[in-house]
Formats: sequence, C-alpha cells, structure tokens
Amino acid sequence: MPSLFDIKDRVYIVTGATGALAGSAAAYLAAQGAKVVWLGRSLEKLEAAVARARQTTPDAQCLPLAANVLDRPALERVRDAVLEKWGRVDGLLNGAGGNMPGATITPDKNFTDLDFDAFRQVIDLNLNGTVLPSLVFLPTMLAGGRGSIVNYSSASAPQAISRVVGYSAAKSGVENFTRWLAADMARVSGGKIRVNALMPGFFLGEQNRRLLTNEDGSLTARGKLIVQNTPFGRFGEAAELHGAVHYLLADASNFVTGTVLAVDGGFTTFSGV
Ligand SMILES: NC(=O)c1ccc[n+]([C@@H]2O[C@H](COP(=O)([O-])OP(=O)(O)OC[C@H]3O[C@@H](n4cnc5c(N)ncnc54)[C@H](O)[C@@H]3O)[C@@H](O)[C@H]2O)c1
Repeated sequence: MPSLFDIKDRVYIVTGATGALAGSAAAYLAAQGAKVVWLGRSLEKLEAAVARARQTTPDAQCLPLAANVLDRPALERVRDAVLEKWGRVDGLLNGAGGNMPGATITPDKNFTDLDFDAFRQVIDLNLNGTVLPSLVFLPTMLAGGRGSIVNYSSASAPQAISRVVGYSAAKSGVENFTRWLAADMARVSGGKIRVNALMPGFFLGEQNRRLLTNEDGSLTARGKLIVQNTPFGRFGEAAELHGAVHYLLADASNFVTGTVLAVDGGFTTFSGV
C-alpha cells in the first residue's frame, strides 16, 4: 500500500523559493524525492539555493526558474518549461509574500499617515501574487487530475496586530481566497484539487529580524511581547513548518480543503492571560 505521505516524483512549484520559509520547504520537498520547481525573481539566487539544497540531497530533482509572481507571461513561461521537463504539476506552494515598511504604522504614527502606494504593493504581492500563480497553474493541475495548492496566511489575519495594516489586510484576503477557491475547485474537479493555507506564527527571517531582535541577538520590546504571547515561549524554526507543508501537499490530506492550518506555538489560540 503506498504511503499517505509518499510524494516521490510529485511535481511541486514553490514560489518565493529563495525565502526563509518557502526556501526551506522547497529543500525539504526535494529531500523527500519530489520534483521541485524553485520559482523566484533572481535566477542567480535560485541557483545558489538549489546548490545549497544539493549539498544535503545530492540527487535532488530541482528546476530553478525565474519569474515575478505578478507577471502573467513570465508565469506562463514557467508553466511551459515545467510541462516540457516533467509533464505535469501536482501542487503549488504560494510562498512569495511579505511586508513593506511603508505599509506599516510605527508607534509614533497612526493610520492617517499610511503610504497608500506601499499598502497597494503589499496587497498586490501577497494577495494577487497568490491569485495569479493559482490562475496560471490550475488548468494544468485540472488536466492532470490532481492538485494541491498551499497558500501562506499569517497570525495577523484573524486578529489585529499592531503596525502591519497592509500585510494583515492582504493575508485576510489570502485566507478568504483559499476558502473560495477550495469550494470552486471542489465543484469543478470532483474533489481532486484541494486548496488550503498555512498560518505560520512568528519565525525569524530577514524581513522581521531587525524588528524582533537587537544586533546582539536579544529581543526587542516587540519581540518580547510576541514571545510572551506565544505559549511555547519562542519563535518558530523554518523546519517546523515542513510537516504541515508535507501533509497538505500529500494524499494524507485528501479530504482536507479550505482550511487554514496554524503552526504558531499556540499564538493564535492564546488570550495572553
Ligand atoms: N517569516 C514569518 O515569520 C512569516 C510568518 C507568517 C507568514 N509568513 C509568510 O510566509 C511566506 C514565506 O515567508 P518567508 O519568511 O519565507 O519570506 P521571505 O521574505 O524570506 O521570502 C519571500 C520570498 O518571496 C520572494 N518574492 C518577493 N516578491 C516576489 C515577486 N514579486 N515574485 C516572486 N518572488 C517574490 C522574495 O524574493 C523572497 O525570496 C510569505 O508569504 C510570508 O508573508 C512568514
């Protein structure tokens, strides 16, 4: 009987694959025997990330391809290159995303100081950067009769978290889009295409390191507040998302669609008291 978690030779596209979380997930999937398309904006960075992955998994099946997730013709070129090399697409991990300083309200400011262009860019990257790859790769998954899309939400989607107004709105949109697309794809694919989201809590990455830690590695006031409100009392490690990514992409979650899976050390279920 095949393992519910067997993903050997499955073809997965990972966007934002040079990033902290999605990059780590791409390397993990390749180590499990999957065929992984590493999608990001810089081919040079993608090739370096693939070379790092091959240090631990010499036989990793990786295809680095450059594209901006907001550029439809570039995504279509990726689709064509994947079909030429591997003939199918079994899943999409929409990892490209993140915040921008202008869409953040620092404690000395309030909403009326918002840089609306930055707000729009954050919505564009996180929401449209999830919608557009789904639009481009779904017809191929539908034709192949199987597919799992995994989006990235954030702990700032279900509740208000200070400062991150644009990012929170974008990730709330990603969650609703996840549910909407799950229902639509269930209808048209007869349950063969599933759409879910991960909700990572707080993980240290390049984007938030300066916000959460000082140069000497100690926690900033915001970092302390987050750790205090995380029952596990620490930030997550990128590898702690691998199990959830694997589960949502593999047959183990065949009857799971439209869900948002929190991997947050308890942050979103804790009242803080
Ligand atoms: N790190 C965290 O604590 C955390 C928490 C919750 C949610 N998330 C979300 O998880 C996802 C992955 O996060 P991460 O920490 O790996 O972020 P990251 O900033 O390390 O990586 C994001 C990647 O996306 C790429 N990217 C940005 N714009 C792009 C574009 N237009 N086209 C293609 N690629 C583009 C970047 O180059 C980068 O490689 C993101 O959606 C993020 O918002 C992260």
